[in-house]
Amino acid sequence: MARQRVDEPIRTTIGEPHEEASADARPDRPTAGAPLLEVDDVTLRFGGVVALDGVSFTIGEGEIFGLIGPNGAGKTTCFNAMTGIYRPTSGEIRFGGQRVTGLRKHEITCMGVARTFQNIRLFPEMTALENVMVGADAHHRSSVLSALFRLPRYRREEAEGREKSLRLLEFVGIRHRAGHVARNLSYGEQRRLEIARALATDPKLLCLDEPAAGFNPAEKEELLQLIRDIRDTGVTVLLIEHDMRLVMGVTDRIVVLEFGKKIAEGTPAEVRDDPKVIAAYLGVPADAA
Ligand SMILES: Nc1ncnc2c1ncn2[C@@H]1O[C@H](COP(=O)(O)OP(=O)(O)OP(=O)(O)O)[C@@H](O)[C@H]1O
Ligand SMILES: [Mg+2]
Repeated sequence: MARQRVDEPIRTTIGEPHEEASADARPDRPTAGAPLLEVDDVTLRFGGVVALDGVSFTIGEGEIFGLIGPNGAGKTTCFNAMTGIYRPTSGEIRFGGQRVTGLRKHEITCMGVARTFQNIRLFPEMTALENVMVGADAHHRSSVLSALFRLPRYRREEAEGREKSLRLLEFVGIRHRAGHVARNLSYGEQRRLEIARALATDPKLLCLDEPAAGFNPAEKEELLQLIRDIRDTGVTVLLIEHDMRLVMGVTDRIVVLEFGKKIAEGTPAEVRDDPKVIAAYLGVPADAA
């Protein structure tokens, strides 16, 4: 099946119709393409706390992949290990076959991994547009000198970054808020802005840490659609989410963590019916569940 290659930047497709992508959005589309992210036997300790304990899973190109588990299970720590914030105590993480453990945050961003944060992290006094342009800047090649003297190359890159950022704001549904400072945006708009900023780095993999936290059912439904739209542009999505209905409704496959260990992996239906998963969420022994 024709699919946009994930190593192509998405800037030409975001916010614009994309024929291949819409054909790909069929409900019977195959899952798991080539391995994109491989978490290989990763353990991460904080002193006596084992936040991740021998965790392994692989995300295929084009998937919407869920990472779930009760509070403190190690989900955010997993994101932090993948994006260069923490270095695993042991084990390896590979992206597109290349080792990312040990690389710096910006190196991993440039390879094509972007994320949002559980607690929104925006520049509150900057406009929505400026916040997204910061993400777009990640790929600019202008030197400091050319920026200082506003040389033609810098001006061209700035104009392109602005265009692209406006398209991304449109794509996430808050184009009309472009000129407003971030702190004046509603909570839901701020969550969307974070997603636009992450997309501005042209990721192949977008990691969303509880993007629907605090949303009402209608907002959750809209977010679900946005996640599908993102995938349909060729971006693979990794989603941490507590709302089971949302996770089950949008993901192709799910990994479940509990106390840092992987306790289940499979399709939403497989995971939902797994007694270990039910027990983890109810806080009772698996045989009781
Ligand atoms: N920087 C840190 N220092 C010490 N312990 C940490 C640190 N970060 C996380 N932990 C611990 O690691 C474990 C996993 O935390 P993590 O934040 O990854 O869980 P989570 O699955 O994201 O939970 P939640 O659903 O509440 O966000 C917890 O016991 C937590 O207290
Ligand atoms: Mg978390």
